Amino acid sequence: MEDHPGEHFSGPSGPQVRARQEAHPCPGDRVLQVIAIDGPAASGKSTVGYAVAQRLGFLYFDTGVMYRAVTWAVLDRGVDPRDEAAVGRLAETVRIEIQAPDALHADGRQATVRVEGQDVTWAIRTPEVDKHVSLVAAHPRVRMAMTRRQREIGHRYGCGQGDKAGVVMVGRDIGTVVLPDAPLKIYLDAPVEERARRRYLELVGRGKEVSYEQVLADMRRRDTLDSHREVAPLRAAPDAVVVDTGGLTPEEVVARVVALAHERGIGREAPA
Ligand code: CDP
Repeated sequence: MEDHPGEHFSGPSGPQVRARQEAHPCPGDRVLQVIAIDGPAASGKSTVGYAVAQRLGFLYFDTGVMYRAVTWAVLDRGVDPRDEAAVGRLAETVRIEIQAPDALHADGRQATVRVEGQDVTWAIRTPEVDKHVSLVAAHPRVRMAMTRRQREIGHRYGCGQGDKAGVVMVGRDIGTVVLPDAPLKIYLDAPVEERARRRYLELVGRGKEVSYEQVLADMRRRDTLDSHREVAPLRAAPDAVVVDTGGLTPEEVVARVVALAHERGIGREAPA
């Protein structure tokens, strides 16, 4: 596969590409420049992750968009989201591109997401995708295809071989499964009512007709599915720093994560 700076592709990448098992993926004993941020829906992962990446000059990589893009493709093609074989096949072959937004698309997006060349940046954020994404993401074949790609990006950027100094990767299983070797793992949480309120305001702000009760019910359902699935369930890694964002401003959370990163030699060398 070709290396496109700032672009990340998922799709056919060869059966021989295997997860790297080494304890340390970088040459030398360089600190892996990776911050893993996990947590449930609307816990602040994307706001905090994006801001931390900006502060450190790191790539911001939201793994949720990959599962959303696959779900969009599943729905678009009329595939039954419960059909593991069909969904797995699609996840393994569909071309997903994630790129930093250009000046033409400065509409509040953190990244431009394309499926087979079609811009689906906002289409993957509909209540319809929200409703089905956890089901799609629970299929082991889907997870395997996505995890492989995410780990490759994490190690490439983490070892200083990307077009940025490191990577902030956010999702549900980054600290536990995708990059368990990340030297800083953050688990963001907040009460479900608070998270539903944030998501409700976000959707209404984009002109979606939803009720708070609907959003809350969907979030509860997604939390349950994400936390109880067999493969890579949502949970904090044993060595994660758990931050409750409930009573904190995003700036306070960002400052805390950046301070922790610096202490561990991420973003700059740790003091001797
Ligand atoms: O933005 P929000 O927190 O609502 O969700 P997201 O991060 O975009 O993720 C959407 C869904 O993708 C989650 O509910 C999970 O089912 C799935 N996901 C996952 O299984 N593993 C990840 N690393 C990221 C997302």
